[in-house]
Amino acid sequence: MRSAVITAPGQVEIRDVPVPDVGDMEVLVRVTACGLCTMEGNLYAGRMPVYPTAAGHEISGRVEAVGAAAAQLEDVPAVGDLVTVDLLTRCGACRSCRSGQSAICASPQGGVRPDGAITMGAGLAEYVRVPAGHVWSVGDADPALAAMGEPLACVVHSLRRGALREGDRVTIVGAGYMGHLHLALARHHQARSVVVVELDEERRTAIEPAEPDAVIGPDQLDEVPRADVVFVTIASGAAIATALAAVADGGRIVLFGGSPDGPPAEVPGYEVHRRQLTVTGSYSQEPADWRAAAELLRSGTLTERLQRLVTARYPLDEVATALKRTAEERVYRVVVTC
Ligand SMILES: NC(=O)c1ccc[n+]([C@@H]2O[C@H](COP(=O)([O-])OP(=O)(O)OC[C@H]3O[C@@H](n4cnc5c(N)ncnc54)[C@H](O)[C@@H]3O)[C@@H](O)[C@H]2O)c1
Ligand SMILES: [Zn+2]
Ligand SMILES: [Zn+2]
Repeated sequence: MRSAVITAPGQVEIRDVPVPDVGDMEVLVRVTACGLCTMEGNLYAGRMPVYPTAAGHEISGRVEAVGAAAAQLEDVPAVGDLVTVDLLTRCGACRSCRSGQSAICASPQGGVRPDGAITMGAGLAEYVRVPAGHVWSVGDADPALAAMGEPLACVVHSLRRGALREGDRVTIVGAGYMGHLHLALARHHQARSVVVVELDEERRTAIEPAEPDAVIGPDQLDEVPRADVVFVTIASGAAIATALAAVADGGRIVLFGGSPDGPPAEVPGYEVHRRQLTVTGSYSQEPADWRAAAELLRSGTLTERLQRLVTARYPLDEVATALKRTAEERVYRVVVTC
């Protein structure tokens, strides 16, 4: 099968590697689409110099084969089903997994393939093999949108971490791809209002069609009511300061964006104490978030909003162009169809 491997900054090759065998409790998936995320852009640009890497962690596909034991289970998708695919390792053995927080599984993610490629998803390929619990049926969704299951599940998780309730006032800091998904889901969960705070004027304009109640710059917070919950979708100390100014007393702040290189933001102890704020992190997703994300994709509820986030589609043969655009342009999602 063909598998794209990023070998150096600006270099990607299509390798011919064996189609994986399926174990008893595994599923083989014929990949239909793979969305390129910040990580793939960083690998290609040389900002994350880890080579050679088989990347691609946001995929959809059709079930090609189901292991004998998995096939006995009612809820495992059947051969031919369109699925969105969880490519995370959830070891089940570490402290996080044992406490129901497999989103922060402590086991190493990925490994090294016989061809020497480091696997970070390895979804830019014709086939992937995953545990049977990692595929979620999405009916007849557009495969490019079904490949948004992973980021959607991250945002379902974020809303749960923020304990979002119907009628809450929501503020989202950052109007990138993740800001758009937070807006879509906050609306779906019947937030009373959704305000978007974004630095960049072009991005402020671009989110208008998604109909937030207000789109403002960080210096316009006085013009909007304070929020019950603020989602920070960017790794930035300035954005955290904005969240503190935007949140109501007693409110919640979710740090969805984060970077190991980011400057540490000071915790304003007195403010958190006196205003009874909750500041929480959100990382990755749990199986329950996948379940909700797959149902959203299957139902078609978000189709129009998600379609606006597909910047371009390229076949696997043109993966270099797709990676280059992701690395160099301000895109939402460039999708590779496999
Ligand atoms: N928690 C998770 O599971 C998870 C999953 C995927 C990505 N992420 C993180 O989500 C973040 C956002 O991803 P994205 O693809 O939307 O990125 P993006 O770069 O497309 O969007 C970020 C937006 O924030 C804006 N911005 C920057 N500083 C700002 C400020 N101080 N105030 C207001 N707006 C500001 C930028 O102009 C940009 O439009 C990244 O940090 C990424 O690491 C988290
Ligand atoms: Zn991603
Ligand atoms: Zn684990």
